[in-house]
Amino acid sequence: EEMSYSESIMAATNSLYRFPLIKINGIPLMCHIANNWNSISAFLPDPSDLLIATYPKAGTTWVQEIVDLLLHNGDAEVARRAPTPQRIPFLEIHSPAPIPAGLDLLEKMDPPRVIKTHLPIQLVPKGFWENKCKVIYVARNAKDNIVSYYHFDQMNKTQPEPGPWDGYIHKFMNGELPWGSWYNHVKDYWLEREKKNILYLFYEDLKENPRREVERIMHYLDLSLSDDVISRIVELTSFKSMKENPMANYSCIPEEIFDKSISLFMRKGVVGDWINHFSPAQNQLFDEDYKRQMKDVNIPFRTKI
Ligand code: A3P
Repeated sequence: EEMSYSESIMAATNSLYRFPLIKINGIPLMCHIANNWNSISAFLPDPSDLLIATYPKAGTTWVQEIVDLLLHNGDAEVARRAPTPQRIPFLEIHSPAPIPAGLDLLEKMDPPRVIKTHLPIQLVPKGFWENKCKVIYVARNAKDNIVSYYHFDQMNKTQPEPGPWDGYIHKFMNGELPWGSWYNHVKDYWLEREKKNILYLFYEDLKENPRREVERIMHYLDLSLSDDVISRIVELTSFKSMKENPMANYSCIPEEIFDKSISLFMRKGVVGDWINHFSPAQNQLFDEDYKRQMKDVNIPFRTKI
């Protein structure tokens, strides 16, 4: 079963290469997204659809798994019905990307659907706001976010070549990575969170007290599950459980695309790994730039718990 899924991905990815970036409204996006931009931005969700929005590597998959389990009363078997990107379509991903095209999957699914996006808020299809869809945003502190993205860009052969770490820091600060500036991404969702009823979560809060955050998501979804079910969901979505779960750990992606000898998708799953990557000089440069880029908006990020 898993083999045929891998094979179908390989067949869809007819030419394997690191996708070049093309800008849409100033945001660098991979060419398969930019080339299909008109149909992506015209997507019309149902009011019952739920959007999970993140900057890449902020904890998307974790919150996707929590939400899927909440919506299925903590039933682990149901949550294992398919790999994450088939259960929860990735809105803007289009062929020949190595995961199923979001629009194709959505067409075949009946609402209410859960949908993943990395789009900055100004590129999210207007239909989500017109239909007042629920939106969960997950933010992760900048330093751990860039470290996670760096490892991902090395192992995922469809992402642009990350190059050396020192240059990568500059690309991150300059908003040159796929999906653009981390700084604008986290700020723009933060500024709209009240007006648009966005549930704004932090990766560090999930690490600190997963049960509290699972309950917060449950309340946002207007669900009320038993304490036992909540406990089970917390256990099923621990880093260890998800790392071992083939339907949540992206082992469905063929080795030619996700090179596991370089990094696993479920890599470390901790807060504070940045300390092992930033030199003192890089840290100082990053902090100074961070202060400048974040001075207009105060978001309570933490780099330690
Ligand atoms: P690391 O590379 O720091 O380990 P995304 O899903 O947005 O791509 O984010 C991936 C990051 O979230 C990776 O971070 C991954 O290990 C981490 N992650 C995934 N599931 C997790 C979980 N259940 N608990 C903690 N971290 C998790």
